[in-house]
Order: sequence, then C-alpha cells, then structure tokens
Amino acid sequence: MRSHEERWNDAPGELGGRIAIVTGAARGIGAATAELLTCSGATVILSDIDEPALSQVAKSLARAEAYPCDVSRPAAVEDMVRHVEEAHGRLDILVNNAGICPRIPLEEMTEDSFDRLVDINMKSVFFLTRAAARVMKRNGFGRVVNVSSVGGRIGGVVHATVYSATKGAVLAMTRSMAREYAPEGILVNAVAPGAVNTRMFTDIGDEAVDAYVKNVPLRRLAEPMEVARGILDLCRPTTTWITGATIDINGGVLMM
Ligand SMILES: NC(=O)c1ccc[n+]([C@@H]2O[C@H](COP(=O)([O-])OP(=O)(O)OC[C@H]3O[C@@H](n4cnc5c(N)ncnc54)[C@H](O)[C@@H]3O)[C@@H](O)[C@H]2O)c1
Repeated sequence: MRSHEERWNDAPGELGGRIAIVTGAARGIGAATAELLTCSGATVILSDIDEPALSQVAKSLARAEAYPCDVSRPAAVEDMVRHVEEAHGRLDILVNNAGICPRIPLEEMTEDSFDRLVDINMKSVFFLTRAAARVMKRNGFGRVVNVSSVGGRIGGVVHATVYSATKGAVLAMTRSMAREYAPEGILVNAVAPGAVNTRMFTDIGDEAVDAYVKNVPLRRLAEPMEVARGILDLCRPTTTWITGATIDINGGVLMM
C-alpha cells in the first residue's frame, strides 16, 4: 500500500488533487492566494460577498469556482462547506482571509460597527474553521491559514482599535485551534501582514501611507502576492511541523 504522500505526488503540482477554500478572494491578498494555490495544482473555491468581482477572478483562473458567501453568517459558511464536500468529496485547505477595516475613530465607534467587525473578522474564522475541520478530519489532513495583521500584535495604526482587537483574537484562536486539531492532522497557522498595497490600506490616503512607509525598513508596501507566498508555504503538504505559529510578513516593520 502506497503512502498518502506518494499517491499525491502522482498529481500535477504539489497541491494536485487538493481542494481549497479561500475567503475574501475577489481582490487583494485573497485573489493572489487563490491564484498561487491553483498554480500549485489545487482546485480552489473562491468565496466573497462581491459577486461580480469574484466571478471575474474565478474566470481568470484554472480549477477555480466562485461561491458567493457572507462569512459573517455561520449558516452560510456551513452551507459552503457542505457544498464543497458534496461537489468535491473532500477539503484540504482553508484560508480565512476575508476582512474589513473601516477607519472609525474610537469616539465614533457604534455598537453596530463594532459587532460587524467582530462578525466578519473573527466570528467567521471560528465557524468556518470548525465546519471545514469536520471534513478535513476524515482524511487526517488539513491546512488552515488565518490572515491576521501586525495590528493584532502591536495595535492598529489609523483608527483601527476594534480591527486590531479582532486580529489579536484571531492569533489566540489560531493557537487554541492548533492544539485542538493537531491530533487530527490539521495544522492551523496565521500570517500577520504589515501594510499591503490593497484598497484596505491605501484608503487611508497618500500622506498617511507615506508616513507609514518611512518606518518600514524595506521602505514600501507589500504587494498581495508577497503575502500569498507566505500563505502558500503554510499550505504545503511538506510543511508538517509548523502549527500554532504566526508568520510575520511585514518588510521588517515589526521584528520579534
Ligand atoms: N491590506 C493590508 O494592509 C492588510 C494588512 C494586514 C492584514 N490584512 C488582512 O488581509 C485580509 C485581506 O485584506 P486585503 O488587503 O486583501 O483587503 P481587500 O479589501 O482588498 O479584500 C478583502 C476582501 O474581503 C471581502 N469581504 C469583506 N467582507 C466580507 C464578508 N462578510 N464575507 C465575505 N467576504 C468579505 C471583500 O469583499 C474583499 O474582496 C484581511 O483579513 C485584512 O484584514 C490586510
């Protein structure tokens, strides 16, 4: 009987035959991650609330399927996982990437905005990972990557107090889930990007971007693909001894 890894090696690309979900895949880091995963051979279910942008990205990739889904709704993410299991029979990789970062001064934060941030950035990670892990367990293999932020480590810049709290919570959840799912062969890790050249960050305006970049040792913003490469590394079947970790992808802005 050949080993699990020997059988996968027959497929094209190191992720050949693997099934992945990437949330927030209509643009930015999610779209770049979906592209890299498909290039490595995976079939990727791209999920987002922005349906037109999502279907554009899905159309541009081989082995990609658009599944519009609001990750803040536990019932919706559970439906998505059910669909993936019915359509593909398995699930190997989950990238919890969808997120929002409205720039709301602390004094102006409302309870509704607070709850929305928590629901999209944090609650989604819990419910989607739990649903996905139930399927991954059956094959004794899983890779979950949570997209946190440098803000989750040291607090946010530019009106991002609640955002940073959700991202800090994602790091704590990553470690707890890593312990709980380790016996099932499911590795759970996080990446903590610094500022990335997507609308989420550039929306703060040129002056604030320039001020931030002055403190980055590499003196620029990251491109989405540079974060996606770190995510891909954590999804590889050959990455077998990293779990509960946070990989800092930040151009040196925080070294720890
Ligand atoms: N851009 C940065 O500087 C930066 C830095 C650190 C961490 N991050 C994190 O990286 C991740 C991706 O951000 P990005 O920079 O690519 O931002 P982006 O705004 O370009 O993309 C985020 C995507 O998430 C989707 N989304 C929002 N709410 C959703 C919901 N309820 N359900 C499903 N999809 C939803 C959006 O439609 C969008 O396509 C986020 O979790 C963000 O917090 C970004």
